[in-house]
Amino acid sequence: MRSTSHGMTLTQHLIEEQRKHNNNNITANLRLLIEVISRACRLISYHVSRGALGEAYGSSNKKNIQGEIQKKVDILANSILLEANEWGGNLSAMASEEMEDIHLIPDCFPKGDYLLLFDPLDGSSNIDVNVSVGTIFSVLPYLEGNIPTETSFLQKGSHQVAAGYFVYGPQISLVLTTGYGVNCFTLDRELGSWILTHRNLRIPPDTLEYAINTSNQRHWYAPVQRYIKELIEGEDAARKADFNMRWIASMVSDVHRILHRGGIFMYPADKRTPNKPGKLRLMYEANPMAFIVEQAGGAATNGKNRILDIQPQSLHERVAVFLGSKNEVDRVTRYHLEG
Ligand code: AHG
Ligand code: MN
Ligand code: MN
Repeated sequence: MRSTSHGMTLTQHLIEEQRKHNNNNITANLRLLIEVISRACRLISYHVSRGALGEAYGSSNKKNIQGEIQKKVDILANSILLEANEWGGNLSAMASEEMEDIHLIPDCFPKGDYLLLFDPLDGSSNIDVNVSVGTIFSVLPYLEGNIPTETSFLQKGSHQVAAGYFVYGPQISLVLTTGYGVNCFTLDRELGSWILTHRNLRIPPDTLEYAINTSNQRHWYAPVQRYIKELIEGEDAARKADFNMRWIASMVSDVHRILHRGGIFMYPADKRTPNKPGKLRLMYEANPMAFIVEQAGGAATNGKNRILDIQPQSLHERVAVFLGSKNEVDRVTRYHLEG
């Protein structure tokens, strides 16, 4: 594989992949779609970096479909992604964590073979304190030909043809999978190009680092209580090792750390909301992250089942999430299955 003196760009990488795999899964249209998303997210990163200097700072005082107060930048990031992706001709519809209903491609634009889902700004509670946030996206196939409905989106995560996330942090990163491993690109802000900087990321199967919001501990079910208790007890007890804890409260940043050095991320269901399992959203957060993590050799379950095998029942449904280093995810999943 050849690259320019500036390194391999996202476009070059996708064309190489397209050729290597004979257009299997990575088509020219999918490549163009990913390029449009990456341009839109470059713009989002600009607005995020403006912080208090920009117009999209602070709360909008409006609530989204999730019942959460939206930041102004949640709304801005959502409109940037909608606008950028409407005209490209690669999509039939979009769905967003910030919108109650799906967004059809307007009649004036051509339609394509894909559906796009996104969390326009993940971790937005952190944004006003200058902690890394990001955008998560998922691409599903759409081959039905007629006008898509919400049901068209209710496909298992295993149907995804691409997924990725952007981190707006000290560096702007794009982590992407099209089903052939996971690669990380860094935005060269001067050139405006995404350069491949981390090829074929692999999550080590073992780890001594975990991520969970322990303020919810009293609400957890027994299997999570058991697992975390053992981690905290450290080397004098069952696990015979000391574990470290990190919780950034931006899923993109926590998953990014795990992709680079291993770890387990957990957002379990808890007793407060038995009919609303967990906090994270299956379609906008859990599925794309599970696809990426599995492609990097890790595992992702809802405590009992593989996340990518869950049949979604509704667009905004929530799910418990355990993902990251395989042996730890397997262990906490086993604790759930043992009851
Ligand atoms: P979002 O900002 O898109 O609503 O997502 C926030 C999510 C996720 O990024 C993070 O892992 C989790 O919420 C943090 O939850 P706590 O507030 O319980 O720490
Ligand atoms: Mn989110
Ligand atoms: Mn969000």
